[in-house]
Amino acid sequence: MPHLDDIRTELTQTWDLTAFNKSRLPAMLGETCDPQALDVPAKLNAKLETPALEDMVIQSSPTEASFYDDGLYIEDMPIKFPQKPYHVPASVWANFGKVLTQILEAEKAVNPDWDDCYIYLTIQQSHVAPNTAQRRGGIHVDGFQKASIVPQTIQHQIALTNAIPTIFYKKAIEPGQLSDSKKQFFADLHAQCIDAPTFEPAPYNLHLLNAYCPHQTGVATKAEYRTFIRLSASKIPFMGQDNTRNPLIDYEWNEDKKKAFYESIAKA
Ligand SMILES: [Fe+2]
Repeated sequence: MPHLDDIRTELTQTWDLTAFNKSRLPAMLGETCDPQALDVPAKLNAKLETPALEDMVIQSSPTEASFYDDGLYIEDMPIKFPQKPYHVPASVWANFGKVLTQILEAEKAVNPDWDDCYIYLTIQQSHVAPNTAQRRGGIHVDGFQKASIVPQTIQHQIALTNAIPTIFYKKAIEPGQLSDSKKQFFADLHAQCIDAPTFEPAPYNLHLLNAYCPHQTGVATKAEYRTFIRLSASKIPFMGQDNTRNPLIDYEWNEDKKKAFYESIAKA
């Protein structure tokens, strides 16, 4: 399977800026068994039918109502801490249990260290108008890592959409030109990749990417309802203010704690 070997080998390796000098595209993992779930807005009161996976807590919480507007929207919500069970809000599992089962099984199959990772879940659903994008534009990598914080395992993701595919860029990057500042790093990445050959995963197909895969969200050519699903696996906590809080897990992340944590793992 094209690219699977590269990305799979890298799952447990240490991130290295110089490794950008090789082009990578996502590894395709196959089509989802429940495409219909992506084509309609998820509902808060959907019926729970898919059985929980082993070592998974599914529970409802009043907080879930805030996840729903034009469908479901959660952004990098932690659903698993290292060596702990999965915790999934009931309505999320009720709407996407079959797809998520497939994604979590795929993660377990490719990542021998899955239980040592934080696992985050993004599901974004919305109507997308012509000539607009559902998510922020600009070429970037998911799981941004930087040379001042090493060693770190390479972060990876498993994603899929039903429409308006993500655009991936096949380009060997000049790592020397990539800044340690996230904003500048992405600007440099954009400039280097924008004219490179592109690849778009087919709708409903799971794809495995990692922190070396430049991409950006697709722009709609016509009005569409888009569902974007992404599992992110990382050995370190994200702790961002933009991460949706999981009401089923007891943790406290804030900007001060995040700053202190990142300072603690940064090189002097
Ligand atoms: Fe992304």
